[in-house]
This record gives sequence, C-alpha cells and structure tokens, in this order.
Amino acid sequence: MLAGKRILLIIGGGIAAYKSLELIRLLKAQGATVTPVLTRAGAEFVTPLSVAALAGAPVHQDLFDLTAEAEMGHIQLSRAADLVVVAPATADLMARMAGGLANDLASTLLMATDKRVLIAPAMNVRMWQHPALQRNLAQLVADGVLCVGPDSGDMACGEHGPGRLAEPRAILAAIGAAIGAALADGPLKGRHVLVTSGPTHEPIDPVRYIANRSSGQQGAALAEALRDLGARVTFVTGPATAPPPGGVTLVRVETAREMLAAVEAALPADAAVFAAAVADWRVKNAAGQKMKKQAGAPLPVLEFAENPDILATISHHARRPGLVVGFAAETETVVAHAQAKRLRKGCDWIVANDVSPASGIMGGAENAVHLITADRVEDWPRLPKPEVARRLALRIAEALSGAVSS
Ligand code: C5P
Repeated sequence: MLAGKRILLIIGGGIAAYKSLELIRLLKAQGATVTPVLTRAGAEFVTPLSVAALAGAPVHQDLFDLTAEAEMGHIQLSRAADLVVVAPATADLMARMAGGLANDLASTLLMATDKRVLIAPAMNVRMWQHPALQRNLAQLVADGVLCVGPDSGDMACGEHGPGRLAEPRAILAAIGAAIGAALADGPLKGRHVLVTSGPTHEPIDPVRYIANRSSGQQGAALAEALRDLGARVTFVTGPATAPPPGGVTLVRVETAREMLAAVEAALPADAAVFAAAVADWRVKNAAGQKMKKQAGAPLPVLEFAENPDILATISHHARRPGLVVGFAAETETVVAHAQAKRLRKGCDWIVANDVSPASGIMGGAENAVHLITADRVEDWPRLPKPEVARRLALRIAEALSGAVSS
C-alpha cells in the first residue's frame, strides 16, 4: 500500500512531462503524499499551477528560494521522503546525476538524499542510444539508482524506438516495488498467478546432479512484479541463486517432476508463467549411493529419460489457467523457433530471448525479449530483468482484465 508514503517527484524538462501529471494523480489515488519539484526546463512543459493543484502541495523550483529554505531546507526536503522519483529523467539530468553535479534544486536534492532514487528516462531514441547516455545510465545503475523504462514506440519527434517515458501505471508499479509495497488497488487484486522459476537439478547419485545456468532472476522479478500489482502469487522455484521475493507463497523443488507436482497442486490459477529452465532430461537410473571412481573400471555412462513438459501439460490441463505464458530460450532463429514452440506447447504467449553466449543474458542482469502472442510479435528493447518483469506483469493484468485479447 502506498498510503502514507512520501514521494519526492522531480519533473524534468521533456515533452513527456505531461505524463507526470497523471503519475501524480495515480499516486494520490493510492494515498501517497507527493512533494513536487519542477526543474527550470520542466516548467517549460507543465505549469507549476497544474502540478501544485494535482499534488495538493506547493511546487519547489528554486535552490535559493528564501521562503522555502526558511520553511524546509533543501537537505531536509531530500530526506523527508520514502522515495525520490525522477520522471521524466532527461539525458541532461541523468548526466548531472551520474557526474555528481549539484547546480540546481533537482540535482542538489539528488546529491543530498539518503533515500532510494527511481528514474523514468524519456528522450529521443538517438539520445537514448548515445554512448554517453548509456555510460551515464550504467553509472547510475552501479550507484544503486533504480530505472523504469523507457518504452519503445513512436516518439513525439517523429522517430521510432526506445526513449518513450514508461506509462504512468508502470512507473507507479515500479514505485510500489521500490518501496516494497503492494498497491492498494492493484489490477491483479483477487487474482491467483503461478510462476515457475530457476533451474531444476536432476540427480545422478545422491551428491551429483545435472543442472543449467539459469539464475532464477527473471522468474523472481516476475513474481515480485505480479505481487506488486496485487496478485496472490504462488512461486514454484528450483534451486536458483536469485533470492525469492517476499510476500509470495514459496514452494521449493529440486527436480522437474517435483516442479510439475507442485504446479498441479497450486491450481486453479488465473494465469501461469513458466519462467523455469526445466531440465529436458533426467538420469534414467540415478544411483542410490555415491558412484565410486575405481581404477581400471569402465567409465560410467549416463542414460537419460525425458522429463515431463510442465508448460505443455498445464496448457492442455483440465484446470488450465485462463492465460498460460511460456518462455523460450533460443540461441538462433529466436522468433521463428518461439512461434513454433507456442503452437507446439499450446500456451497463449511466449516470451522469447536469445541466450547465445554472446548475448550475456543467461545469468546476466538484463534481458532482451520478444513477446509472441497469437497475432503479433513485439520486440522489446534490452532492459533490466525487473523492468521486463514489470512490463510483462502489466500485460498480464491487461489481458486478465479483458483489455487486450490473449
Ligand atoms: O522446450 P523449451 O524448454 O525450450 O521450452 C521452454 C518453456 O517450456 C519454458 O516456459 C519452460 O519453463 C517450459 N518447460 C517446462 N517443462 C519442461 C521444459 C520446458 O515447463 N520440461
């Protein structure tokens, strides 16, 4: 719940600044308190009057404002918040944040704060792709700054690509996630969503097993994002390195067969997302005792048996969830293979990604996915895994609300 939470909202100067007004409205509807700060450039796009009226609070604009300093100095202002949000975060503001400049009220607050900072970048696609911007972004992420968006699509400047401000609803979800608070009226309230995650371990003998490089980061981020939209989440996870999120029903399993049993036991569900990297095969006759190395003895030969396909099983299940989402990790011809997989497995959507070693995705912090539905393929930009999760969670919420056909 965001009720009683204090958000310091810094509005930068970009055409997307108008969306910050909607963000203020959403935050207020959640019961949050919004303290708005408008940069000089921001005030060229939205008026202080609109911002103040929606926030129900005075707008801070000037570092050397005597009245404001007398009432509350800028150091206090930067700390009397639960979260600092920069939306839109312009290329210039991000550069100044990354460089540690403090030459106006916004940048001074960002330097002086002891709270977490969430940025929602918005800019022209070339600016977003510029090495200087990406360098600054990497620095900010390394400094612990959270980032939501940008979205990809048509831009006000007539170009197309990543750079659009994330939708206010997605920023709201990111704020909820950053504060660790579920939204009071999340769109998934009352819904049960099942998520599988992590690798499976298939025993060879009691001490050895076959596994894969899945870290479970994407699945954990998904469970968290779904939780933050108000869902009751059952999180069935293999032995992952990523920590499981709080506030979900956690079921730990080792093998594919245990995972299937746990998933079936958790039904019914409104939606199920199969993000686990389930081992396709298990060792046919796993040894009951540790296999011994013996001089001169023949080397062991492992014989495999096929594991159950959990995604396909649930897609054809009598208690099939209304929306079934699978993942496809491919190393070549990603979209075509994933489209075929969607049909073969009988699921509604496939989230496809390139896990070739060159992509650095498997086990990495970022993901570049294609969302494949019955009638289209969406190419999402390379994004931090939590951001992929937030976007997917919002799409699931839309689909379950009937806003978008699955
Ligand atoms: O066939 P492939 O392993 O590429 O399919 C990936 C998708 O199928 C993922 O969503 C994964 O969680 C799911 N899967 C499964 N059970 C298996 C193998 C894959 O649920 N045995």
